[in-house]
Amino acid sequence: MGEVLLVLGAEQLATPQGTGAQGGAQLGRLQVIERGGLAVRGERIVAVAEGGELERRFPSAKTLRLDGGTLVPGFVDAHTHPVFAGTREEEFELRTRGASYVDIAKAGGGILSSVRGVRAAGKEELLALLLRRLERFLELGTTTIEAKTGYGLTFEDELKCLEVIDQANRSQPVECVPTFLGAHDYPPEFRERPEAYVDLLVEDMLPRIAETGLARYCDIFTESHVFGLDDSRRILERARELGFGLRLHVDQLSQLGGAQLAADLGAASADHLEYCSAEGIEALAEARVVPVLCPLVPLYLRIDQEAPARRMIDAGLAPALATDFNPGSCMAQSLAEVMSFGALRYSMSAEECLNAVTLNAAASLSLADERGSLEVGKRADFVHLDQPNYRHLCYELTRNPVRTVAIAGKVAFER
Ligand code: NIG
Ligand code: FE
Repeated sequence: MGEVLLVLGAEQLATPQGTGAQGGAQLGRLQVIERGGLAVRGERIVAVAEGGELERRFPSAKTLRLDGGTLVPGFVDAHTHPVFAGTREEEFELRTRGASYVDIAKAGGGILSSVRGVRAAGKEELLALLLRRLERFLELGTTTIEAKTGYGLTFEDELKCLEVIDQANRSQPVECVPTFLGAHDYPPEFRERPEAYVDLLVEDMLPRIAETGLARYCDIFTESHVFGLDDSRRILERARELGFGLRLHVDQLSQLGGAQLAADLGAASADHLEYCSAEGIEALAEARVVPVLCPLVPLYLRIDQEAPARRMIDAGLAPALATDFNPGSCMAQSLAEVMSFGALRYSMSAEECLNAVTLNAAASLSLADERGSLEVGKRADFVHLDQPNYRHLCYELTRNPVRTVAIAGKVAFER
């Protein structure tokens, strides 16, 4: 049985409800309990109720006493590229002077500059960098992240990154769900013969990565200057055969029809989607693919095009909001900040934004049965905010409101 821990004293508890992605009108629903708290036994939540009621039900329980504020579920970041060495502030500045992301990539910068960094770095160095970034995620209230490789682009360098992610999962509590992104770009040694890299991915890298068991998902950058629709389909069909779940970077810089491809392949998520068409939205809705929207990225890339979030929600889709943390197109890790931009750029309500960074994000990673909401039976991953209600998450910008973070019933961060 074990001892019960009561989490009491918050002004408000706010949480999505359910074990699957919430779309359409459901996206705007939360359970809000004024003076709400939690009862936790071991790793799990055993009761969610008003504080006084919890004290009556569990009279001899230990108590974690909070002074006001708001309790929400641990945030889940469904799209990050956290394994990199070196930074790219010069590209950021080139863009502020008018260069485009694709211009920079074509000149050998962009993803390839991070490939040089990762290839030159040893495992120890990459692990130390990742652990520092995970500490930062934790301080910002993020308790689970999806973590892509994609800056190695040889079997050995990609494996090195997956091993680093695995090592990080053994040494600290923020779980990284590993994704193999070998199809992020063509490595420099294949620039002149890109088809040979597609062959290598399909015939050699994917099966060998599958054998290691170190990646749960396979991702791809589907865009006309990188992997086109036909090559993307070939790579992802092979990945699916080998047991990977699928995630795709699609319709980010142009309307290629990547959303339809994601739907056709039964992907877990279709990410970015700034240029997603009406047909794309329909296909995603039909196939119940989670759109993972990253509102900080177009801002970072200085692209005006916005993902059609409202039209997606009206079509019944269940979007997640993510950072896309990476050294090129989004050097930011805060999902609270992402929520503000979800509201400001996508006209999403505070309720929709909270759902999108918790339950829907967890659902896109097949984790919604035990994460993403504060409900009986789920893992006790919770965040205490020094804000009077959950609506402040969108309303306040640039200040970290996180006071306490618990993962699996244990306090992992306190400020
Ligand atoms: O999600 N679009 C492709 N990949 C990343 C950018 C990666 C990089 O520039 O290093 C993205 O935006
Ligand atoms: Fe990305």
